[in-house]
Amino acid sequence: MGATPLHIRPMRTVDLDRVCEIEEEIFPMPWSRTSFEDELAGNKCAFPWVAEKAGNVVAYLVSWLVEDELHIGNIAVAPSLQGEGVGRALFAHCLDAACERGVTRATLEVRVSNARAIALYESHGFIPVAMRKGYYSDTGEDAVVMLKMIPSGDEGN
Ligand SMILES: CC(C)(COP(=O)(O)OP(=O)(O)OC[C@H]1O[C@@H](n2cnc3c(N)ncnc32)[C@H](O)[C@@H]1OP(=O)(O)O)[C@@H](O)C(=O)NCCC(=O)NCCS
Repeated sequence: MGATPLHIRPMRTVDLDRVCEIEEEIFPMPWSRTSFEDELAGNKCAFPWVAEKAGNVVAYLVSWLVEDELHIGNIAVAPSLQGEGVGRALFAHCLDAACERGVTRATLEVRVSNARAIALYESHGFIPVAMRKGYYSDTGEDAVVMLKMIPSGDEGN
């Protein structure tokens, strides 16, 4: 992961310049700044995180806590730092924090072609449970729905 320690904390409005830069660099259909602002300001279920190195946001994750379920909406690591363990650390942190709040399952959707993300999710115990045909409107690609059941007392691993 490199010598500079990673600090993971809840996302704040002040993070959004950098979050939107990463979002636009990575995703073909990036979320707008307003979408992130709405999550932070207006969505009581929002459970969003950032990872910082040396005070700079290098990754983020948006998720929602709905009753006893965690739904992970997206996770992104700045391209220059991908493959160095940042995504794994951020994902694990979110799962652990959700477990502390008593979630019993976690779900997400991912593009069928996204082998790197699928490998990350599988290594945390997520299994594919369904397909959503043509879910991504930019390419018509299918989504895999993945699920992790979390027995009470599990710390997310
Ligand atoms: C997917 C993503 C979040 C993973 O974060 P990362 O910091 O690059 O990944 P990590 O270095 O923490 O590696 C985590 C796991 O991903 C998988 N992985 C990493 N690099 C990989 C590669 N080149 N090929 C296949 N799997 C890979 C492995 O399972 C790895 O675990 P391991 O290190 O124990 O082998 C990041 O690459 C990213 O932002 N990708 C673009 C955005 C995206 O696709 N987001 C997910 C959909 S919302």
